[in-house]
Amino acid sequence: MTNKSIIITGGAGEIGWATAQKFLEAGAKVLIVDLDENKLKELQSTTKSDSLEICVADVTKEEDVKKYVKLAEDKFGKIDMFFNNAGIEGVVTPITELPLEKFNQVQQVNVQGVFLGMKHVMNSMKNTGGGSIVITSSVAGLQGMPGMTPYITSKHAVIGIMRTAALEGAKMKIRVNTVHPGVVDSRMMDSLEKGMGGDQEQVKEGLRQQVPLERYAQEEEIADTVFFLLSEQARYTTGATYVVDGGMTA
Ligand SMILES: NC(=O)c1ccc[n+]([C@@H]2O[C@H](COP(=O)([O-])OP(=O)(O)OC[C@H]3O[C@@H](n4cnc5c(N)ncnc54)[C@H](O)[C@@H]3O)[C@@H](O)[C@H]2O)c1
Repeated sequence: MTNKSIIITGGAGEIGWATAQKFLEAGAKVLIVDLDENKLKELQSTTKSDSLEICVADVTKEEDVKKYVKLAEDKFGKIDMFFNNAGIEGVVTPITELPLEKFNQVQQVNVQGVFLGMKHVMNSMKNTGGGSIVITSSVAGLQGMPGMTPYITSKHAVIGIMRTAALEGAKMKIRVNTVHPGVVDSRMMDSLEKGMGGDQEQVKEGLRQQVPLERYAQEEEIADTVFFLLSEQARYTTGATYVVDGGMTA
């Protein structure tokens, strides 16, 4: 990955940061983008790597998206890879009780944010000979779950963005794929387990029992698949949905 560059949105979050570390170890130049300024600064100061850049940005705002793309172009010369990953889980509420703004809030980050990233990064990549993009969907993009309409909707929607972008991007030598994590041992799953109500340990055990490999994933295991998809090892793979779920959707 020497001389290669990558932008990672949600880069201060658990999956984003695990992926950033893999690319730094492999010699890439990495820009992590996030809303969380404190966490970005903390990661930069503890990492002490010249190859790590940070950018505070809200992926739902087009001006902010232009800002992170320009920063990457200025710092790295070109953008080789893009992990379009920032996302929020939203509330766990049945459709009949769900306020419209709670539905829209999740679409804004998980769908509008992903779309804006595609628009501006693909425009940059097309001028520099191409690149590779992974969008974070979820098993929630492949199946339903009661109470999770906003999240389920958003994670299905990004498959549509990926498929269209893969077809449009092929001529520009831009590959686009989605990654679909199952249950990851993470802040987000902790929040969803709490949202599902009842005893959290029982909820967690119920989810664990749905995984044939009988455990939650570690975020590094998602990062490994993202690294593969973004690398030249996956040079003939585009328009694909990559499940990393311990067999949950088998
Ligand atoms: N954790 C899981 O079990 C799991 C499973 C399947 C899919 N995913 C998906 O993986 C991705 C990363 O999740 P994670 O587990 O690392 O969660 P996380 O909450 O640790 O990280 C998400 C990051 O996105 C940032 N973010 C949120 N809104 C933003 C905005 N508007 N602009 C910029 N940054 C913003 C947050 O500050 C946070 O740092 C998400 O898209 C999530 O839906 C997670």
